[in-house]
Amino acid sequence: MPKPKVFATHGLFEPARKILEESCEVEYWAQAERPPRPELFRLVADKEGLVCLLTEKVSEELLRAAPKLRIAANVAVGFDNIDVAACTKRGVIATNTPGVLDETTADFAWTLMMAVARRLGEGETLARSGIWQGWNLDQLVGTDVWGKTLGIVGFGRIGRAMARRASGFQMKVESDFVSVHVPLLPETRGLFDAPKFYRMKPTAFFINTSRGPVVEEAALVAALEAGKIAGAGLDVYENEPFIHPGLKRANVVLAPHLASASLETRAKMACMAAQNVVALFSGQRPPNMLNPEVLQES
Ligand code: DGY
Repeated sequence: MPKPKVFATHGLFEPARKILEESCEVEYWAQAERPPRPELFRLVADKEGLVCLLTEKVSEELLRAAPKLRIAANVAVGFDNIDVAACTKRGVIATNTPGVLDETTADFAWTLMMAVARRLGEGETLARSGIWQGWNLDQLVGTDVWGKTLGIVGFGRIGRAMARRASGFQMKVESDFVSVHVPLLPETRGLFDAPKFYRMKPTAFFINTSRGPVVEEAALVAALEAGKIAGAGLDVYENEPFIHPGLKRANVVLAPHLASASLETRAKMACMAAQNVVALFSGQRPPNMLNPEVLQES
C-alpha cells in the first residue's frame, strides 16, 4: 500500500517529522520565507494531507487546488487562517493544537506586561546605548505590577493561566492591566475600538497576545497618543508583519508574534499536528478536529 502523500509548509521539528514519516510520504517546504501561493497550490495538487502554519490561508481556492486533500492540520491553536466551513463542504478535516501552548503564551503575556510596566524596552536601549550615566533616583521609574488589578478579556485556557499568575503577584482580577485572550471570530474582530480604550484608566496598560485584528490599531495609537492609556505590550498586529508606525513608541513593548515560541511548546505543537494527520490515515479520529461532522457524514 503506498503511503499517503503529505505536504508540510515548514520543516517542522525532528520529533514531528518522525511521527509523520512513519506512515506518510512527506514533502517539506524548506525555504525560510513562506511559500508563495502559486507554489503552494502546485505542491498540494497531489497531496492527501497538509500540515500548515497560521501564515497559510486554507481557503476555498487552496482547497480547489488540492482535490485529494483529506486533512489540513494547523500548527497553531488559532485557526482564523482556515476556512473551516469550506473544508467541511469539501469533506476535509481541519485540526488545531489546543492545550499545549497555554502556559507558554501566558508566560509571554506576563513578560510583556512586566516589560511595559517597568519600562524594560527603554531601559535596555539605555543600557546598550553607551550614554548611561549611572543610577539616579527618578530614572525610568515605572509602575508596580504586584498588588494591582488585572482585567482578562477571554477567560479560556490562556486567560485562566494568566489569572493563576496574577494570584502569585497578589493581584486582583480587574483592570490596571488589560490582557486579551480571545480567538479572532467575526464577533471579536475590532472588539477593542476607540470607546473601549477611552473607557480604560489613563494609568492602564493594554496587553495583546491573541490576534491583531481583535484591536482597531488606529484607535489604540490614538489612545496612546492622547494619553488615554499608559502603554501597551503587543505580540500581534492587525496586518502582520506590518506594524503601525504609531505603535513604535517608548511606552509600547513590541514583539514579533512570539507568545508560544519556546522550543518545547513549538515542538509539541508540531507533534500534535503530525499526530492529527497520522491518526486520520491510520483509520482513527484525529484528536483535535475543528469540524468533526466531516467524519460523521462519511
Ligand atoms: C497560535 O497557536 O494560535 C499562536 O498564535 C501561535 O502559536
